[in-house]
Amino acid sequence: MPNGLRGTIVAVLVLLLVLAAFVAIFIYAGVYNVGADAPHSRFVFSALDELRDRSVTSYARNLAPPADLNSPKRIAAGAGLYDEMCTVCHSGPGLERSELSQGLYPQAPGLARQSDVSLAEQFWIIKHGVKFSAMPAWGKTHSDELIWDMVAFIQTLPKLSPEQYKAAVASAPQEHEEMMKEMTGAHARPEVPHEHSD
Ligand code: HEC
Repeated sequence: MPNGLRGTIVAVLVLLLVLAAFVAIFIYAGVYNVGADAPHSRFVFSALDELRDRSVTSYARNLAPPADLNSPKRIAAGAGLYDEMCTVCHSGPGLERSELSQGLYPQAPGLARQSDVSLAEQFWIIKHGVKFSAMPAWGKTHSDELIWDMVAFIQTLPKLSPEQYKAAVASAPQEHEEMMKEMTGAHARPEVPHEHSD
């Protein structure tokens, strides 16, 4: 190996080591403020934003919405689920913003506006949640079908007045709530034997 090349490789390795040492000192010294009331710097914010967008786009690539996504049945079911589980963070037409939602960082976007996030991407985010944000992974307790119901309802949100929103929630089927409770085990009925795979 020519001397010049060897010198360059050594210099690059030393530089990498120095960089790694700086990163380690930065982390261990506790300089970074993780408080949710201290916004990221512009650089960290856009890096994380891009990371999230690229990740969601890539993981949601092969997902296709069901053919009956716009069916009134799905939309009604989604309305009930949305009102119960999502409004505390995402609010909704005519609803007051909760105290909890005001303290979130990153903020939960209002879903009653046109979104540039595709249907498949919305499904993926609802199912898997988003690390380092308050968005939970609802797929741990809800079937894919129920998650598509929520995606279906979210599409109607931007056009709903507060009255129409209330009517949509009131039209939600009651048995859906029951179904959810059974899925999370809160209402496990002894007469229905549960199959355990573990
Ligand atoms: C505890 C708060 C919280 C709850 C409850 C919550 N979310 Fe979220 N959600 C968030 C936050 C915060 C984000 C933004 C994440 C980010 O910036 O990466 C988010 C992002 C999303 C997005 C992506 C929106 C976009 O345009 O980028 C969708 C869709 C979504 N949530 C749907 C739901 C649905 C449906 C429910 C109810 C089943 C729900 N969320 C419940 C906090 C919450």
